[in-house]
Amino acid sequence: MSESTELESRRFPVPEQLAARANVGPEVYEEASRDRLAFWARQAERLTWEQTWDQVLDWTNPPFAKWFVGGRLNVAYNCVDRHVEAGHGEQVAYHWEGEPGDRRTITYAQLKDEVCKAANALLELGVQAGDRVAVYMPMIPETVIAMLACARIGAVHMVVFGGFSADALASRLDDSGAVLVITADGGYRRGAASALKPAVDDAVSRSGAVRNVVVVKRTEQDVDWTEGRDLWWHDVVDRQSTEHTPEAFDAEHPLYIMYTSGTTAKPKGIMHTSGGYLTQVAWTHWAVFDLQPDTDVFWTAADVGWVTGHSYIVYGPLANRATSVMYEGTPETPHRGRWFEIIDRYEVSILYTAPTVIRTFMKWGEDIPAEFDLSSLRVLGSVGEPINPEAWLWYHEHIGGGRCPVMDTWWQTETGAHMITPLPGVTTLKPGSAQTPLPGISAKVVDDEGNELGDDTTGLLVLTEPWPAMLRTIWGDDDRYVDTYWSRFGREVYFAGDGAKKDADGDIWLLGRVDDVMNVSGHRISTTEVESSLVAHPTVAEAAVVGASDPTTGQGIVAFVILRGDAEQLGREDSGDDLVQQLRQHVAKDIGPIAKPRQIMVVQELPKTRSGKIMRRLLRDVAEDRELGDVTTLTDSSVMSLIKDKLPATSSSDD
Ligand code: PRX
Repeated sequence: MSESTELESRRFPVPEQLAARANVGPEVYEEASRDRLAFWARQAERLTWEQTWDQVLDWTNPPFAKWFVGGRLNVAYNCVDRHVEAGHGEQVAYHWEGEPGDRRTITYAQLKDEVCKAANALLELGVQAGDRVAVYMPMIPETVIAMLACARIGAVHMVVFGGFSADALASRLDDSGAVLVITADGGYRRGAASALKPAVDDAVSRSGAVRNVVVVKRTEQDVDWTEGRDLWWHDVVDRQSTEHTPEAFDAEHPLYIMYTSGTTAKPKGIMHTSGGYLTQVAWTHWAVFDLQPDTDVFWTAADVGWVTGHSYIVYGPLANRATSVMYEGTPETPHRGRWFEIIDRYEVSILYTAPTVIRTFMKWGEDIPAEFDLSSLRVLGSVGEPINPEAWLWYHEHIGGGRCPVMDTWWQTETGAHMITPLPGVTTLKPGSAQTPLPGISAKVVDDEGNELGDDTTGLLVLTEPWPAMLRTIWGDDDRYVDTYWSRFGREVYFAGDGAKKDADGDIWLLGRVDDVMNVSGHRISTTEVESSLVAHPTVAEAAVVGASDPTTGQGIVAFVILRGDAEQLGREDSGDDLVQQLRQHVAKDIGPIAKPRQIMVVQELPKTRSGKIMRRLLRDVAEDRELGDVTTLTDSSVMSLIKDKLPATSSSDD
């Protein structure tokens, strides 16, 4: 038996102490299966509504769902004011730490004041309910304040991860029609100040709808200034009143848009609304992490620029009155123990992060976490990609001290909140499996025709009932919404795009994407997006991109390019290394550093089927250095040996 099969068969029962007083026990599954909608209605009652709903779910026009129809609430009031009104104003909402080591503590009362001031500033700038506001920020408290200020006045925020390029920002500004951008001069990453404002200047110059740019001073870098358009946050926000009366909005009022990669080059604006989204993020945060608001210190170590940050740094924790940690920088700055130092300092009790980080910690060695006191931890979480059993066990042992259950949470930007995950007080854990659909969630594994599969068969993951935090559409493109998610198996079955398997106990194992979407360090990047960036470079005639398995990042981006005639000579000289570097930089600049190919191979031909489709499977074999699979459907099978011959001279991977 190989080591990994041996590891996979280990089981971890629920810690007794946790089971005895966990927020939810085993009866919750039974309760939800008796009446799914009544179950979700009970979870919605955990929020404060100005007006309750007449109907829990309207699914008469699938796949366009309406949850809590007729209900009205204010999301920011639920996240902030109600806790202050209930006497918890002095409780810390965020222990924030900047990468250089600066710290801020923000209580719920302070957060309320800041959100009100920012909301008043947005109103003064003419932002109205329904307007889109772009947020392009580092991980600082103002990012959360900006999001909540939007929610408070009914504006729709559209957060763009600060690592994305000016081009990526410009296309998102354009697609969403944002009228205002909130940004900063820069943020700190890897020990240095990195600028944000230049990308905003570039993007805004190409997008008609943006009237103002509000800039938070973080790094004190020099910035270009456009008079009449640009405003400092401290000038426009600080002088505002700390009073603002929140208005209740319809449960289906849009809360935010978050762009994510699909199978085409154009990112999709995933739209989330208010009541259902907040219900499910709040309930899952409370149930899956067993959140005890009076005693826990919760830390989602992710960026607010991703859905994980939206749901589990901002909305879930705040709705539950959690005390959270928020950290600006990278795990290795200024030293590799930085995260553990933070856990130690704030006595973090719940840690939520991605497998890629855990594998990086594994590489650095167990001696580093061992130098810190991590005894405050009691529950761990994982998100973004399948966690391999070795990483799970290492996380459990060397970070969790062997006592903390690991919640492997499967969900997506589109699902808004956790969907398949164990529960800490209920589930006997299986390292590597996300295990069980949450109560109120219906997930199945089906074959290509949509037939439900038996145990131990690999198929496609689908969700067969609507759920409260589901996306409502793709911004401005209902047809694409239907085509992408709700057409493969009919209009009532959500196609997740993930391969999955059910084992003999009915537990679900996620097997990665089945479409042309890569998962690099838990981030979704489409192969076509990288391909179109490469062919936009003057030297490239054709490009094919695949995600090759990578021991740390899950997948790494590997590109195969055919050069244009006049550039071919270049590709031959110096083994093409300079050109390869140029191309890698080009993609990083075009899309963002996360999309920079790990490797680019200059080739003469690409393997294509007789119908002209690139055979990515074969390219993946090459990229992963495997024996080639079946080549019989290729137009010209000698192409593959040409590619393989070319390999060592043109590959590049320096970071
Ligand atoms: O392939 C699945 C993978 O990440 C995809 C969703 O990516 P994104 O929308 O960027 O959201 C990431 C954070 C929620 C999924 O389609 N994925 C996410 N969590 C897991 C996972 N794969 C396996 N196990 C997980 N726990």
